[in-house]
Amino acid sequence: MSRKIIVAGNWKMNKNAAEGKALVEALKNELADLDFNEVEVVVCPPFTTISSVIEAASGSAIGVGAQNIHWAPSGAFTGEISADMLVSTGVKYVIIGHSERRQYFGETDATVNSRLKAAIAAGLIPIVCVGETLAEREGNRTEEVLARQITEGFAGISAEDGAKIIVAYEPVWAIGTGKTATPDIAQAAHSFIRSQLAGVFGTDAAEAIRIQYGGSMKPENARALLSQPDIDGGLIGGAALKADSFAKLIREAVAGSKN
Ligand code: 13P
Repeated sequence: MSRKIIVAGNWKMNKNAAEGKALVEALKNELADLDFNEVEVVVCPPFTTISSVIEAASGSAIGVGAQNIHWAPSGAFTGEISADMLVSTGVKYVIIGHSERRQYFGETDATVNSRLKAAIAAGLIPIVCVGETLAEREGNRTEEVLARQITEGFAGISAEDGAKIIVAYEPVWAIGTGKTATPDIAQAAHSFIRSQLAGVFGTDAAEAIRIQYGGSMKPENARALLSQPDIDGGLIGGAALKADSFAKLIREAVAGSKN
C-alpha cells in the first residue's frame, strides 16, 4: 500500500500574523518547483495567525491546520475554539493531543477522544499525537503507553473515519531536545502503532493511516527516517520556523520516501 507522505509544521506559540504571512510567502518561493503529488505539506500556526496564513497560502498547495480544537459546539468555555470556528477560517487539519497539551494543560486520552470526534464530525483531518516520556521509555513501558493512547484515544471511531486520521508518533524525550529517535527506534514504534491501529480499525484502515514522526526532525535526519517503511512523514517543530530549513527537510523527506 502506498501512502502519500505528509510533512506538517507545528509552529507552537510562535509567529504573529505578519510573521506567519512572511514565513508562508517565503515557503511558497522555496517550494515553487516541488511536486506536491509526492508530498502533502501543511503548516499549523497559532489561532490568531491562521487567517493571515490562509490568505498567504491561497493559490498554493500548502495546507493549513490548527493546533487544538474544543469538543463542544459552542458555549461557556472561555479561551476555547470550536470545530465550526476552525472550519470557518478555512483550516483543513487540526493537531490533537500534542504532548505539550498533555503535559501542561491537562489533556488526557479521554479529552483527545472527545476532540477527535468533534474534528471528524466537522470534516477536519485530525493529526493525533502519541508518544512516551523518557521515564516511560526507560521503564520499558513504551508499548503499554502507546497501546493505551491509541485504544482510549480512538475509541468509538469507525474504520472509515479511522483511515483518514493522521497519527504523529512524538517521543516526548525527543521533542525540542535535539535528541532524535534513531530510524530503527522510530520504525519499531511506528510498526507497533500500526499493529495497534489494526486492532482498533482493522488491517485495511491501519495500512491506509499515515504515521508521522516528530521530535527534533531536521533536514539532516529526515531522509533516513522517511526511508523506514512505516514512517510516512513528519510533524516538525523548530525546523519548521524557517522557510529554508523546512523546505530542505521536505525535499529530504521526499527523497527518503523513495528509498
Ligand atoms: P521539535 O521538532 O522542535 O523537536 O518539535 C517536535 C514537535 O513537537 C512537533 O509537534
